[in-house]
Amino acid sequence: MNKEREHWGSRWGFILAAMGSAVGLGNIWRFSYAMGEGGGSTFLIIYLLSVILIGFPVMMIEFTIGRRAQTDAIDAFKKLAPKSFWVIAGGMGVLAAFIILSFYGVIGGWSLKYIFSYLTGGVSGNTETYFTEFVGSTFEPIGWQFLFMGITVAIVMLGVQKGIETSSKWMMPILSILLIVLAGYSLTLGGAGEALTFMFHPDWSAFTDPSVYFAAVGQAFFTLSLGMGIMLTYGSYLSPNEKLTSSAAYIIILDTLFAIIAGLVVFPALFAFDLDPTQGAGLVFIVLPTIFEGISGIGLVVGVAFFILLALAALSSGISLLEVVVAYLIRRLGVSRKLATLGIGFIIFLVGVPSSLSQGAVSIEVFGDPFLDFMDKFSGSLLLPLGGLIVAIYGTWSWKSDELLEHTDLKGVAWAPAFLFFAKFVAPIAILIILVFGMLSW
Ligand code: PHE
Repeated sequence: MNKEREHWGSRWGFILAAMGSAVGLGNIWRFSYAMGEGGGSTFLIIYLLSVILIGFPVMMIEFTIGRRAQTDAIDAFKKLAPKSFWVIAGGMGVLAAFIILSFYGVIGGWSLKYIFSYLTGGVSGNTETYFTEFVGSTFEPIGWQFLFMGITVAIVMLGVQKGIETSSKWMMPILSILLIVLAGYSLTLGGAGEALTFMFHPDWSAFTDPSVYFAAVGQAFFTLSLGMGIMLTYGSYLSPNEKLTSSAAYIIILDTLFAIIAGLVVFPALFAFDLDPTQGAGLVFIVLPTIFEGISGIGLVVGVAFFILLALAALSSGISLLEVVVAYLIRRLGVSRKLATLGIGFIIFLVGVPSSLSQGAVSIEVFGDPFLDFMDKFSGSLLLPLGGLIVAIYGTWSWKSDELLEHTDLKGVAWAPAFLFFAKFVAPIAILIILVFGMLSW
């Protein structure tokens, strides 16, 4: 069954592919909407702590399991820990990928729609009304979602990994430059003071609210593509002599910078135009067009450029999500890549339809949230941290400490004991507590 296993062409090929999966709608769309709802600075602090104290160890362990097992997420656990309960982590990962992609396709579709709008004259009238009318119009968003899923399916079907790798090389730098320029501009709009207070001035009383922890930890897992075996799979294409620590650090730093700069684009403008930070999933699609409208002369061009880059970032993440499900199906059912991709791509599209409808066309709510927001929280805040918890426990408790350090390339490194302490105790316990309290507060 095992063909010659593929490996990354170079260490940077690996880092870029992992960054391509990590940087996506999560950094711009989800980060700003979760932070807006989570009260700003409190959310940001807990999110940053989660990224460093939980995200880093979990990412290292995922890479290590993959590199050691040299196979996909479910098979890796079967191989390293036969007939054990750990396989469940792989299964949950596939489920999470399925659910995330179902609504990810909806938002990806919105980005395509906005590219089209800017190409054909811009977002007209009040940006909030424009957005609400668009998502409320039953069929149009579903059509765009279908298109986004179609493109994702086509790429995964062709398996053009080279295409994705090369495009990431160009896309990431351009997207970062555009974001930095936009942040600079947004900070001049008059809302900078309020935005900086909202983002960076901690409101200590908000730290007692468990739902902020739940949201922030969920965001850390979501944005780093952790807890569902993607980083594990990417690690499996590594040859044993690659250094993991600096790779993980690069991925985490870049991903975090993207999110913070996106925040510096969204929030100053939001306060300058007196918009509401807690309006949920539509936030970016309302605030950014408002900014573009104000840029006289080149607003349309900036709008097109921005949404093209957003859509591309979404695609490179969407592809990694679909690939997890497809890889599993091909091995499990023995079907062809083409059939698996088309079939599951279509099913995921169908599962995403209620998410799309829930944004205005039809009232579909679960626990008081629109269906899309619910699916997002359920997968991000629950499934991914749970997957990460299992990975962390497996990696740190079933292997001897010495073995773990050797596999993470940390043997003999000065801060190895700190890593062990965080990986073994802090990360799992923190995830567990946050999951329990988060569920209760939900
Ligand atoms: N990390 C991606 C983003 O930020 C989304 C994603 C989540 C991709 C989980 C793969 C796995 O948009």
